[in-house]
Amino acid sequence: MTQKNFYITTPIYYVNDVPHIGHAYTTLACDVLARFKRLDGYNVRFLTGTDEHGQKVEKAAEKAGMNPKAFTDKVSQNFRDLCRTMNFSEDDFIRTTEDRHLKCAQAFWNKLVEKGDIYIGKYAGWYAVRDEAFYAESELVNGKAPTGADVEWVEEPSYFFKLSAWQDRLLKFYEQNPDFIAPESRRNEVLSFVKGGLMDLSVSRTSFKWGVPVPNDDKHIMYVWIEALSNYITAIGYPDVNSADFKNFWPCDLHMVGKDIIRFHCVYWPAFLMAADIAPPKRVFAHGWWTNEGQKISKSLGNVIDPLGLVKKYGLDAVRYFMMREVPFGNDGDFSHASMLRRMNTELANDYGNLVQRVVAFIHKNVGGVVPKNNGLQPADQEILNQAYGLIDKMRKELDVQAINKSLDALNGLVVSANQYVDTGAPWTLRKTDPVRMETVLYVLLEVIRHLGLASQAFMPEASAKVLDIVNVPAAKRTFAHAGAAHALVPGTALNPAVPVFPRFVEEDAAKTGT
Ligand code: MSP
Repeated sequence: MTQKNFYITTPIYYVNDVPHIGHAYTTLACDVLARFKRLDGYNVRFLTGTDEHGQKVEKAAEKAGMNPKAFTDKVSQNFRDLCRTMNFSEDDFIRTTEDRHLKCAQAFWNKLVEKGDIYIGKYAGWYAVRDEAFYAESELVNGKAPTGADVEWVEEPSYFFKLSAWQDRLLKFYEQNPDFIAPESRRNEVLSFVKGGLMDLSVSRTSFKWGVPVPNDDKHIMYVWIEALSNYITAIGYPDVNSADFKNFWPCDLHMVGKDIIRFHCVYWPAFLMAADIAPPKRVFAHGWWTNEGQKISKSLGNVIDPLGLVKKYGLDAVRYFMMREVPFGNDGDFSHASMLRRMNTELANDYGNLVQRVVAFIHKNVGGVVPKNNGLQPADQEILNQAYGLIDKMRKELDVQAINKSLDALNGLVVSANQYVDTGAPWTLRKTDPVRMETVLYVLLEVIRHLGLASQAFMPEASAKVLDIVNVPAAKRTFAHAGAAHALVPGTALNPAVPVFPRFVEEDAAKTGT
């Protein structure tokens, strides 16, 4: 059988500041997709890391009174720590200050020079340090970048990438690859930007030092974006395009980005790659932005959400679930305490958690704590079992197009059906009237719980492990190859105690701990 590979990346994060909910969100979405693919039998490479060069980081280091190297070492570590706090499963964490990246970025540059796509000239125009982006005069809004960032006039010698020459080839590429940019609204945005005409792109600066020097002309520092984007190929061995990693993982299956950085990923990056004779990535998905209780998140408003604080307050898996469930993936979303509570107390504690609790506790009390016998299925049993056996297929379909919240709709749909099945099946009544039938109902419910445990692993790894422990599914039988009737629970197998899986959030607890 040929190996199935899957390469997924997060943007690399600027180390000018501490991580916030936006960073946690992008990486979480990738983590869920990466975990799901691994469970589905793929050889996954999940890359994240930090973007450490450029003027913005240089200025932040200056402000902190540190040299840029010491500063980036410190701040980059915060992003690594975030990965542990959030239980991310990255396979590699890249820092653009690493040697492997310097080598890759310079080789990539040389290749573009060799292909005749880079030339020397002089840049005169607007630059926004906050966005690390050049803007045309026509793009400015009231003297600022369209993002609201301050711009400064820059006039200096610069190397240029012949972006203008790539307009038609880019448009052809988008046309031939309609799934390259998602969601649709972002695709339209990119199309109209490119159709509007492309200017050559300044790709080096001489006014600061913190970056990768241009090969053979070290007065020039590479523009941070051309350098940063190449991290995606550094991590799989570029310039060695014959390495096993490069062959297995390029073109990348998915670059996950926020909506603010699509131009870099969907216009500049495929143009650079095509110019260097490398295939563009298969897909770029742009997610939306979070607000806090309805307000834009910003340092000046003092409402930045610290992911560590959320995890302390609500618990890790509840936070992971909430972020993936609350917002149709691709749209903007709002974080509010009320909606967090609703999701964790209703969908997790009352519905999913309580289902496991009441079924397993009942079996311990009345059926000797073992998997009961299947004494023959009735249509209602078959119906819910089919829903359980089809759950992973349904979720896979949604996740393949990054409809992450919809995949959770499917999970919740099964939880809701299972609770209805408990109510109509009423095992507590059957205990007296028809114990043989009761066994079958409980057996069916345990199979449903097993599938819920399997299917929720990518979203809530720790809670799902508890569910699977309770129904005694061995570690080796937790991949998706074990879903379905062929690997059903064996009657007579001992169950473990029904430990609580999804704690409820009670306001007094928050008052006690002062959170
Ligand atoms: N360094 C560049 C990316 C280079 S990739 C080759 C960068 N870094 S960043 O740290 O500013 O942003 C990283 C990601 O965080 C972006 O995808 C951005 O959309 C995301 N978010 C920042 N604030 C956010 C919210 N409030 N909500 C959701 N995501 C947001 O850009």
